Amino acid sequence: PLIFVLNGPNLNLLGTREPEIYGTDTLDDIAGRLEDQGQALGIEIDFRQSNHEGHLIDWLHEAQAAGAKAVLLNAAGFTHTSIAIHDAIKAINVPVVEVHLSDPATREPFRHISYVGMAAKLCFAGHGAKSYELALDAAARF
Ligand code: DQA
Repeated sequence: PLIFVLNGPNLNLLGTREPEIYGTDTLDDIAGRLEDQGQALGIEIDFRQSNHEGHLIDWLHEAQAAGAKAVLLNAAGFTHTSIAIHDAIKAINVPVVEVHLSDPATREPFRHISYVGMAAKLCFAGHGAKSYELALDAAARF
């Protein structure tokens, strides 16, 4: 089984980006741990990041074409703005798990709407980098 892990804008800067909110792990640190966890679960991980909305949409389509079992998606800022990403999640029959390091629901009001969450099957938020590990454990059982 194959699981895509898709990361949106500014997550390439994890480690130095607002560490008081997002922690000090880099995206490579997170990818490495998911890789190990995937190996233990017998799941192949395809881990990607882009600052471009269209790439995330293309990759959601690709997840379906590749026969992925699930997608973990941290759409970052696009979570709260992108109807196109919402539509892409609805357009594929691969279950999507929403992931956030922080808990957007307890932050600024503009983060309280999640267009991703309205289309996703599950959400893990507020556990820092552990949100990804919890999401992978859940998705492995789909
Ligand atoms: C985030 C939360 C979003 O509100 C924010 O725009 C991000 C990161 C998180 O992982 O906590 O870029 O998705």
